[in-house]
Amino acid sequence: MEAVNRNLVKWFFFMLATLLISLDVPAQNNERDKKWWKEAVVYQIYPRSFKDSDGDGVGDLKGIISKLDYIKSLGIDAVWLNPIYSSPNDDNGYDISDYRNIMKEFGTMEDFDSMLKGMHQRNIKLVMDLVVNHSSDEHEWFKHSRSSRTSPYRNYYHWWNAERGKPAPRYSLFDVNHDAWKYDSMTRAYYLHYFSRKQPDLNWENPQVRKEVYDIMKFWADKGIDGFRLDAFQFAAKDTTFPAFPAGYEKNFVKYYAMGPHLHDYLKEMNQQVFSKYDVMSVAEGAGNTFEDAHNLVDAERKELNMAYAFEGVDVAKPEGYSLLHFKEVFSRWDSAFAEKGWLSIFLANHDQARLVSRFGNDSPAFRDLSSKMLTTFIMTMRGTPYYYNGDELGMTNAGFEKIEDYRDMPTLNEYQHQKDIGGDIHQFLERIKFECRDNGRTPFQWDNTTNAGFTSGTPWIKVNANYKTINAEAQEKDSNSVLNYFKKVVRLRKQNPTLIYGKYTLLDKDNPKVYAYTREGEGKKMLIALNFTGANAIAKVGLNTEKAKILLSNYQEAPVQKGEKAMIKLRPFEAVIYQLP
Ligand code: NOJ
Repeated sequence: MEAVNRNLVKWFFFMLATLLISLDVPAQNNERDKKWWKEAVVYQIYPRSFKDSDGDGVGDLKGIISKLDYIKSLGIDAVWLNPIYSSPNDDNGYDISDYRNIMKEFGTMEDFDSMLKGMHQRNIKLVMDLVVNHSSDEHEWFKHSRSSRTSPYRNYYHWWNAERGKPAPRYSLFDVNHDAWKYDSMTRAYYLHYFSRKQPDLNWENPQVRKEVYDIMKFWADKGIDGFRLDAFQFAAKDTTFPAFPAGYEKNFVKYYAMGPHLHDYLKEMNQQVFSKYDVMSVAEGAGNTFEDAHNLVDAERKELNMAYAFEGVDVAKPEGYSLLHFKEVFSRWDSAFAEKGWLSIFLANHDQARLVSRFGNDSPAFRDLSSKMLTTFIMTMRGTPYYYNGDELGMTNAGFEKIEDYRDMPTLNEYQHQKDIGGDIHQFLERIKFECRDNGRTPFQWDNTTNAGFTSGTPWIKVNANYKTINAEAQEKDSNSVLNYFKKVVRLRKQNPTLIYGKYTLLDKDNPKVYAYTREGEGKKMLIALNFTGANAIAKVGLNTEKAKILLSNYQEAPVQKGEKAMIKLRPFEAVIYQLP
């Protein structure tokens, strides 16, 4: 009789599961929906600044190969590599002149193949940058396109013949005049470039362009890479009648540029042509303007992309500081919008931002290590795939260049010229870029305390941060209390605790302006994370008794961390604690 009952129960659950599958119940963030790219910690390498092997002052693939054991020692699962394709480097590789070749300074295709092999041997996946909203103006397609109005490549880009008058204004993010239409006398027409003049926008409305891109993607996927990061892709689709936008649109240009007509058709086509045929993950830069936009990009049943980077969180930090209440509100709002469905990326820094600790923490000697560790704890304990930028695991800081001559970033140099042209306040401009210019995050990786931080034997393409003698990987590897060793610990903790990957997020002590506290619950555990975002002592009213909780990790060496009395936790400056609750 008992056996009959057991079989009945089994049968019931089997039928229920079959029914749910046949009803195509939306994918939830639960067991059934587990994926490697949700569980991975992604480490971003900016190849130009990582390690130079041949003394030309520019990082390269052989340099990365020589550091694969270091990369493996971090415990990360995947590397996202910024563009390494042939490029005249107007925008450090984001202007591609040949999508099937390697940039000369970076090495050869053989180097690429051995780098990929070396990564795979170590169980590290490789995500490549796919830059196809635009190409370089030195790409053969553009050279042909601009050569004549009747070229078969003419429609690979957006042209507006001059006899029609000037097209409706479009804002360029990088142009010296911020004008996205560049007149080309060769065929008396304007071409469109949302970024620099050397980055003409590809015409995604042309099926031939789309086919070219899918072929390029297959070329790399056939080599065995594991994913694509789609650069600026939310801008790819355009209304090619180029209607006028309302006055002032440029202050909020994303609203007008993102999610253009047919974008989702193109992504579905890309998915069908490429993603569905390989085991590759996909992540879009930008998530549109609303949660609905973001869901439309990443929800599994739409068969478009796996995840996207939303900018709202990273944009909270401003030169004048930021409010933790605002920060908490933004991350909590995004989490709740994706609690049941879809998946996000978690990041606070990348190659387009200044350094993590200088923007979100406190990079003074007293607090640099503690606040770096605290911020890393945040990134590794939130729901979403963490993307972590190289050098932040050492607590590398902003370069703080004083002179414009030290900067290399093209948009920054163009903006400097623009400010001069319009009689802007140059002093104020220099102060601002000292805090926010992306060159701050692009100074050479600090390997050791030898000349040029061990990055190159030549002259580095951009100055090494003066603090490399104190902040470097070699010293930190030896110090069990270093930022680097803490990074490894917290990554390991995340990997060992699926609760930190899939568990439900609940914000605690919402109105506390100093402390960010939350629980993660699921996969059989409940964890509490308490983070003091200030350089003073603080109290978190978590409303949970932590007396019997186990402390899994803390960024203070001088344990014991005070356990909570009356559901309160006392935190020292920039203290981070992860508890497992009974
Ligand atoms: C976003 C990239 O992250 C950035 O570095 C680049 O300058 C622009 N897209 C243009 O490709």
